[in-house]
Amino acid sequence: MSAGPRRIFSGIQPTGRKHLGNYIGAIRQYVEGQESADAGAGELAIYCIVDLHAITVAYDPEELRERVHDTTAILLAAGLDPERCVLFRQGDVRQHTELCWLLGGVTAWGDLNRMTQWKVKREQIEQQTGAFVSAGLFNYPVLQAADVLAYRATEVPVGDDQRQHIELTREIARRFNERFGPTLVEPEHVIPGVGARIMDLQDPMSKMSTTAGGESGRVYVLDEPDAIRKKFRSAVTDSGREVRRGGPEGGKEGIENLIEILCVVRGAGPEEIETEFEGRGYGDFKSAVGDAVADFLAPVRERYAELRSDPGELERTLAAGAESARAIAEPVLADVRDAMGVAAPR
Ligand code: TYM
Repeated sequence: MSAGPRRIFSGIQPTGRKHLGNYIGAIRQYVEGQESADAGAGELAIYCIVDLHAITVAYDPEELRERVHDTTAILLAAGLDPERCVLFRQGDVRQHTELCWLLGGVTAWGDLNRMTQWKVKREQIEQQTGAFVSAGLFNYPVLQAADVLAYRATEVPVGDDQRQHIELTREIARRFNERFGPTLVEPEHVIPGVGARIMDLQDPMSKMSTTAGGESGRVYVLDEPDAIRKKFRSAVTDSGREVRRGGPEGGKEGIENLIEILCVVRGAGPEEIETEFEGRGYGDFKSAVGDAVADFLAPVRERYAELRSDPGELERTLAAGAESARAIAEPVLADVRDAMGVAAPR
């Protein structure tokens, strides 16, 4: 299927505890996508809060609804504008679950079984008492493929950890088109050159993550400025003194992570930062990064508080977004049903 005009799609899990990795790796790109999409040329950015993905692990139904509001408010506070993008809740648009089932017919079981996220999450759950690994967790990437393919998206902005899922999405689209004729668009992932993999401040060999690592290694978008500064001051580095990226031999991951964060926040290059901090030592540098991140996130936190206080308005925004989303996804689903020979003909 040849792609139409540029169409951006991405999804994000509902949690009030979005961290700096989510912000730098993904949310920042969502806003850029919205800004650069040329509506006059039919370009569009679509963002989805994926409550249906969140039910694949243990959760509380009432809390899930609250977390969707939290995430909606974070995205709006970060700069998404429902007048200029489509912002909606996945569970409001049934086409996602329907397409997920249909795509199950062209998804290899073996492909799902080798997904890194499946293996890691499954292992995490199995270590807990009363562990329950759901079939949903295994099927998760099929739903993610459905999210993207239902909109014939051409671009998917994500952080580095989603690369494998997007590659699988492409494979599923390819297999569908080979089997049933050109129907779906194979999307490209858009992974930022800087900030695609923000690392845990206490364990710079592991990515910053909502589920792994401790609280002190993770900076939340909604953290108070003092808490942010404190986390950066106690960030793990190495025994050296030079604020400089390491070579291929490694050992400087902590400093490299901080340099990368400061690059994004300041919009500067790493050389500039290395020059600025020459001879100034790690303590000074860590304080400077903490201050910069605290200033960077403060306006988001302030706007969030205002937006989050009006859940009725958030629901209205999501409902309007879902209506637009359905209008785009339904014709694609109709083509898919037709191509697959299911349901009554059109
Ligand atoms: P989620 O909610 O875990 O993460 C949202 C986005 O944040 C990125 N990210 C990071 N980027 C840089 N450094 C990090 N340490 C870091 N941690 C997370 C993720 O790559 C992601 O882009 N399965 C997806 C949600 C999803 C989706 C989709 C994404 C569902 N359907 C369709 C794209 C297209 C997830 O759990 O993201």
